[in-house]
Amino acid sequence: MKKIVVFISDKGTGSNLQALIDACRTKTINGQITGLVSDKKNALGLSKAKKYNIKTLVFPLENKSGRNLWGKLLAEKVQRFFNPDIIVLAGFMLILPESFLKQFPIVVNLHPGLLPDRGKKIKIKGVEIPSFGGKMAGQAIEAAFALKLPATGSTVHLVTAKVDEGQVLSRTVRYIKKTDTPEDFYQKLKIKEHQILIKAVGKLCRK
Ligand code: GRF
Repeated sequence: MKKIVVFISDKGTGSNLQALIDACRTKTINGQITGLVSDKKNALGLSKAKKYNIKTLVFPLENKSGRNLWGKLLAEKVQRFFNPDIIVLAGFMLILPESFLKQFPIVVNLHPGLLPDRGKKIKIKGVEIPSFGGKMAGQAIEAAFALKLPATGSTVHLVTAKVDEGQVLSRTVRYIKKTDTPEDFYQKLKIKEHQILIKAVGKLCRK
């Protein structure tokens, strides 16, 4: 059974973490969440983790240490405390430096936009869909509405030192209806996000 460690920040609700917890408990995926890591002590997911007796680690980025040193120290702690096979970023807002990434072969991110495959732009109904790299989830959805896009979506991908460029593992597209608001669209998209995340992590757990 693969050991999964989930990383979150304080912007989300922890719904993707919950979906992963449920998938492990129901054995939908052959994995176990052995730790939850956050850079913020007020992250909502921390209390969820405690409810399920998942060990937690809060490790803020302090400017004085610098990002590379922070990444190196975080990697050491994560390795020592949790020894993960797979790391899942489910609403983690910080960019992980190479000093962290080189220690872990499989780091997966859930991105609130449609990331292209090898630079090939995604077009829907003839419209090029931006990937909204670097935007937080709510902002990415609002941007899609402001641009009057026909659709947007979410992507599960491997994390590499080049931000938002790792291999795409799974993607979901949702068409924007005239009657949708950004808020209700995002809630519906989240249901699909949970599904693609479980699908992608489930596949990695079978390897
Ligand atoms: C997700 O929508 C994901 O796309 C983004 O952060 C959000 C986290 O949502 N990276 P939640 O906390 O899992 O509800």
